[in-house]
Amino acid sequence: MTHSPLLRSDQTLFRDPDVFEFTYLPDHLHHRDAQVRELAFLLRPALRGGSVLSAVLRGPPGTGKTTTVRRIFREVAEETQQVIPVYVNCRHNHTPLAVYGSIFKQVCGYPAPLAGRYLDDVKEGIASRLQDRNAALVVCLDDADELIPAGTYNLLLYQLLRLYEKWDVRKAGVFAVTSNLGLNLGAEADASVRSVFHPTEITFLPYSRTEIREILTDRVRQGLYPRVLPAPLIDRIAQIAAGEQDVRVGIDLIRQATLRAEKDGRRRVTHADVTAAARAVTAPALRARATRLSEAERALACWIAERSRDGADMASGAVFEAAQEYLPVGKTTYHEHLNALTKAGIVDLVPGAGRGREVRLRYNAGDVAAACKAPDKTCKIPNWA
Ligand SMILES: Nc1ncnc2c1ncn2[C@@H]1O[C@H](COP(=O)(O)OP(=O)(O)O)[C@@H](O)[C@H]1O
Ligand SMILES: [Mg+2]
Repeated sequence: MTHSPLLRSDQTLFRDPDVFEFTYLPDHLHHRDAQVRELAFLLRPALRGGSVLSAVLRGPPGTGKTTTVRRIFREVAEETQQVIPVYVNCRHNHTPLAVYGSIFKQVCGYPAPLAGRYLDDVKEGIASRLQDRNAALVVCLDDADELIPAGTYNLLLYQLLRLYEKWDVRKAGVFAVTSNLGLNLGAEADASVRSVFHPTEITFLPYSRTEIREILTDRVRQGLYPRVLPAPLIDRIAQIAAGEQDVRVGIDLIRQATLRAEKDGRRRVTHADVTAAARAVTAPALRARATRLSEAERALACWIAERSRDGADMASGAVFEAAQEYLPVGKTTYHEHLNALTKAGIVDLVPGAGRGREVRLRYNAGDVAAACKAPDKTCKIPNWA
């Protein structure tokens, strides 16, 4: 059957749009076997009448921490009555009442009664259900670092981990999750918490480009109709997402690029759709990166961007020589600034054919220039020193 390259207005390219929501729980969890094994190991004692052991899960955003825990919890809930897994999103629940309310609802299956919602009543409700079922509780405090500014992190850990002292239940396990690498959730625990909280550290490293491509390919298969997004474009999207070290950028790019094609009534996503979507999706990341640069580094980035847009020679040496023509910049300073731009993820230094390295922008040149311009909207180099 042949069909027109154009979509009818009632047709869609999405087999299942929910697949591109961040809350979507994928059928297959890729490349997280080690973390799944460690978490399963911590859950195991509870299957033999003991307690779940605690953990701190740590890794940058978009490394699958939430997904991994939710997958395991779903399996536990399906397969055993001995453990009651509870997932708490601390971004939305950071007061004790909100956290215990969320735990109550998941343990008991209905919301805590509004009347007399004193904390002790809610806790007692949780404990008595655990007793009835002779089950062990495990609570995932996702984005638990949000509890620290709220001043409830230590309080909640202390109470949860000592629930068993007041009520005759098994000791609870806590999986505390954070995407904040500047923070050590274990060390944030105060002395009284540390006496009952001995978490295993579980690390989630960023996915490689190949891993991202596999995750995205799977998502495309589930979410889009066949042939909508050709494999080379998935490769390109994976590369962009790997550059941002965030698989979510890739998922978002697929959705946005496909929406553009659909809006135009086309059956295929094109290179141009991905380019346009990439600019929209990565703009906030680029702006954030630019603000972390020094004034002189920003100026160099801006100047490099304009040069690249003009199609000039981008070999590192040629860039330096050209810069020198009207900038009082020494070679050492130039290389320091260039390294800073690489670290900030704005340029890559790519080995060239025998001529040293080439300076390549990670983003659209116009966007880099715009993000790095001085307040007076020019790209002039200030004092280098
Ligand atoms: N291993 C994986 N396999 C499939 N999808 C994944 C995997 N890891 C992450 N994802 C997807 O990437 C997105 C971000 O994952 P998430 O678990 O929210 O990361 P984190 O909690 O570490 O910030 C989600 O949409 C999730 O479905
Ligand atoms: Mg998360």
